[in-house]
Amino acid sequence: MTNIFDSLQLTDSTTIKNRFMKAAISETMGDKNYRPTKELIDLYRAWANGGTGLLITGNVMVDQTARGEFGNIVIEDTRDLDLLKQWAQAGTTNGAKIFMQLNHPGKQSPKTISKQPVSPSAVAMAGSNSFAFNPPRALTNVEIKTIVQKFINAAVVAKKAGFSGVEIHAAHGYLLSQFLSPHDNQRVDEYGGSLENRMRILVEIYTGMREKLGDDFPIALKINSSDFREGGFSEEDSLKVIQKMSQLGINLIEISGGNYEKPTVQGIGKGAFFIDYASKVKKIIDTPVAVTGGFSTANGMSKTIENNEADLIGLARPLVMVPDLPNQFETGNFTVVNLHHLTTKISGLDKKIGSLVGLSYYQQQMRRIAKGLPVQVTDNAWSSLGFAFKKQGLSALIPQRG
Ligand SMILES: Cc1cc2nc3c(=O)[nH]c(=O)nc-3n(C[C@H](O)[C@H](O)[C@H](O)COP(=O)(O)O)c2cc1C
Repeated sequence: MTNIFDSLQLTDSTTIKNRFMKAAISETMGDKNYRPTKELIDLYRAWANGGTGLLITGNVMVDQTARGEFGNIVIEDTRDLDLLKQWAQAGTTNGAKIFMQLNHPGKQSPKTISKQPVSPSAVAMAGSNSFAFNPPRALTNVEIKTIVQKFINAAVVAKKAGFSGVEIHAAHGYLLSQFLSPHDNQRVDEYGGSLENRMRILVEIYTGMREKLGDDFPIALKINSSDFREGGFSEEDSLKVIQKMSQLGINLIEISGGNYEKPTVQGIGKGAFFIDYASKVKKIIDTPVAVTGGFSTANGMSKTIENNEADLIGLARPLVMVPDLPNQFETGNFTVVNLHHLTTKISGLDKKIGSLVGLSYYQQQMRRIAKGLPVQVTDNAWSSLGFAFKKQGLSALIPQRG
């Protein structure tokens, strides 16, 4: 029976020392030129020292003109190689591995950033926060090929800087997820229509990366189990994509779900949302599987590994609340992490700014971890609201996420 502290071999030369994986959390710590900062580097050193085996960075954008939110890091060339080297070094302290998550937001780039975002097709966002996003235009065939190259180039820079691997972000309704979804992708060229066509951009990115990075460099994929929407990306499609990517040689599949219109990706107190799906995936592929979303107890994490329902436990918010969770787990001091609903105590206001406060709270706590300060456990939303205004001014009021 596998134990949560057993190692996991991903490629001939890459072994993850235990089964804890920090899932991507957009740190929003890039400077005004989209460069990594000392704060970001310090944060990863703290997480690595906390005992986590694999650290996935927050999403790094591959195109300066297409960003998902304030504080994004962008990689288009080697201009920041020295800073990236420091980031990789901090993230590999204490035997940890660090993978850089690469992303393009597609139409999920807010008004405050994109006058006219791009997407596979000109299908506007829906849902209560859709007012925060301008309607997208459809990418041309040539632009798609340029974006493929941008993903590949960024991965090459990540390897050069000393990152242990990369993760392609094809979940949560961003560009690659938009291509996979028949709702968002209504193209009639080779990038739309059949599932084979909808996943073509992903396959081109992966095979292009593999060619440049070599067989031994880990490439992971974050993918939705479904986007939980009629006419969208279904579980059946997701399984087929995973099977194909596994055949092509991807080294790790991370299971998640939802998008900005149906944000099932985050919830509080609902338990681990995608375990059933992850165990289905494990039955059809040999590639290691990580499952992210909703873990909170030591028992739940251990059992998932022991029952072979997943190979890695992806933790996002829990590792902000308890950055040294694996160390505490090892010494028997960790049993459960509680996530709090933040409230202003004004219910009309909570409804309007709930998601902003939620994100802002984690952004604030990551800054505390970077400084070596304890995380603030609170249900009071006012400080997080203040932080959002300090960082973003009045544009904080326009949602950046669903
Ligand atoms: C503040 C915040 C930022 C996030 N940023 C990213 C991101 O950049 N990339 C990504 O794939 N997921 C991102 N996520 C989603 C998490 O990786 C994870 O899938 C989700 O929070 C559920 O896991 P949890 O219950 O362990 O928090 C973010 C989540 C939060 C709370």
